[in-house]
Amino acid sequence: MKKSVIAVLLAMVLVFSLSACGGDSEDTSSDTVVYKVGTEPTFPPFDTTDEDQNIVGLDMDIMKAIGEDQGFEVEFENLSFDGLIPALQAGNIDIVAAGMNKDDPERQEQVDFSDAYYESQLFVAVPVDNDTINSIDDLTSDMRVAAQTGTTGAEKVKELADSGQIGEAVILDGLDTVMMQLINGDVQAVINDKPVTEAYMAKQPDKIKMVGEALNAENYGFAVQKGNTELLEKINAGLANIKEDGTFDELVDKWFNM
Ligand code: ARG
Repeated sequence: MKKSVIAVLLAMVLVFSLSACGGDSEDTSSDTVVYKVGTEPTFPPFDTTDEDQNIVGLDMDIMKAIGEDQGFEVEFENLSFDGLIPALQAGNIDIVAAGMNKDDPERQEQVDFSDAYYESQLFVAVPVDNDTINSIDDLTSDMRVAAQTGTTGAEKVKELADSGQIGEAVILDGLDTVMMQLINGDVQAVINDKPVTEAYMAKQPDKIKMVGEALNAENYGFAVQKGNTELLEKINAGLANIKEDGTFDELVDKWFNM
């Protein structure tokens, strides 16, 4: 084949390949980093779903605000709470945003946590018409007590069962199911995070109440894979910035006064 023909064909290939590159220019947005954020959305107002089953909540809005501040985007994944840390360790997600207590030593061995962004406490909750359980000390060996799987509440309930103080620890995947079992009388008490139990009380008034004193103090943090200091620094910097500019308080106000 004549050299001139080959030269023309090569030039045509070059022109097409350059135009193809130029065609992708509007996809520069594809250069934006998108982090996968795992959560368990039966934990309002932090992690819940809207009427279209979109994952929404205070955690989601904080994550999005941090992303806007630090130049990344996020997409949310619905996982069981006890599956979140394994998913992070396996690299299936990049961040956990799930009202997760960062002060748990076992978790600190497994993942790295951001700075704390919310203070919480565990409380016992009982049906509103119960007048025999006024604190954790009133839980007895004939009782079934429920909590959500993988949570600090579940750890507390399992401790009570292991010590024989309560008859059975009922550990369930969804916190909505935990609360339903309490309202239906299938369990006598629940141990859960105060702000979330209050959200369930607000949604279903005159059904449940909290009793006694706080069982612990919790500090929620966002979790990343152990050693991912680059992402952790972005999250901490973004969190500090949105606290500084008032965005954080606006989001808390939005979700706690819906
Ligand atoms: N704060 C508790 C913990 O860290 C409960 C968190 C539950 N979060 C959720 N999205 N269901 O164990």
